[in-house]
Amino acid sequence: MQRVLLDVDTGIDDALAIAYAVRSSALEVIGITTTFGNVSVDNATQNTLHVLEQLDAADIPVAKGEAAPLFHPLFKSYPSEIHGEVGLGLWSASEPASKPVSTPAGAFIVEQIKRYPNQLTLICVGPLTNLATAIMQAPEITSLVHQIIIMGGAVKVAGNRQMHAEANIYSDPEAAQFVFQSGAPITLVGLDVTMQTELNSEDVRRWREQDTPLATFLADVTEYYINGYKKLYPDREGCALHDPLAVAVAIDPSLVEIQPMVLQVDLEGVHSYGRTVADLRERCTAPPNVNVCVGVEAKRFQEHFHRTIME
Ligand code: RIB
Ligand code: CA
Repeated sequence: MQRVLLDVDTGIDDALAIAYAVRSSALEVIGITTTFGNVSVDNATQNTLHVLEQLDAADIPVAKGEAAPLFHPLFKSYPSEIHGEVGLGLWSASEPASKPVSTPAGAFIVEQIKRYPNQLTLICVGPLTNLATAIMQAPEITSLVHQIIIMGGAVKVAGNRQMHAEANIYSDPEAAQFVFQSGAPITLVGLDVTMQTELNSEDVRRWREQDTPLATFLADVTEYYINGYKKLYPDREGCALHDPLAVAVAIDPSLVEIQPMVLQVDLEGVHSYGRTVADLRERCTAPPNVNVCVGVEAKRFQEHFHRTIME
């Protein structure tokens, strides 16, 4: 089994990614760190603890992370139309029984990478503030981590949070640029591939037919997510499985086509702040720093996702 540590801003697709990773027989989730992003870090932490309880996996340690980006002020508005006020649709949590560990997320990431040298895969599906903090604390982890899979960015497609910027990167562009230039082994699962995936109302109906507490929970939160997507993407049948696809890349990298690229994050553009910019020139001689996913077998991924969740 591949040991993985998830870094999440639980929201709804984060919840689906956590369920997918925990239910996968190919992965051992050794811990989860939380960050601001879709919601506040407090809500992301409570939501993550709740999702783990729904999965009977409350023994997995959760470490609370950063509440705001490295430099710029926190964006005041959270995407509640997509993830709901608390971050799990209309679900309003009763206090989860379990609590986070006392170790902050950055230190927890360093600790776990050193505990499992060259064996741990980080799967980051929120802003990269925790990971940047961890690398600042212990730069050596970039050569001790097995691989880092990041859901984020939009290289050859439009952004979602801004014209050109994807939400996770845009939430902390400086952190993302620091991580991308750190020398760590990074695979980027951006909107270029995640927007080709879909979970629709037929999938939700099948979960409702299962009629188990987990299936009902997933159906409830996903229904909210799909309705939010309909407002932003009226021509789409359902929602995109952004975060679950990052987990899938850890389980089966053959699901995606990778192109090594020289990648930067724009930190100064008036209209392009937070954009992931690749040097695609033939004559580019700089060494690639990120493996960018440029293609995906969406149907095969979606089938594996549903089979794994409901095993
Ligand atoms: O752009 C999609 C990403 O932003 C996903 O990780 C979603 O959960 C939000 O964090
Ligand atoms: Ca996320």
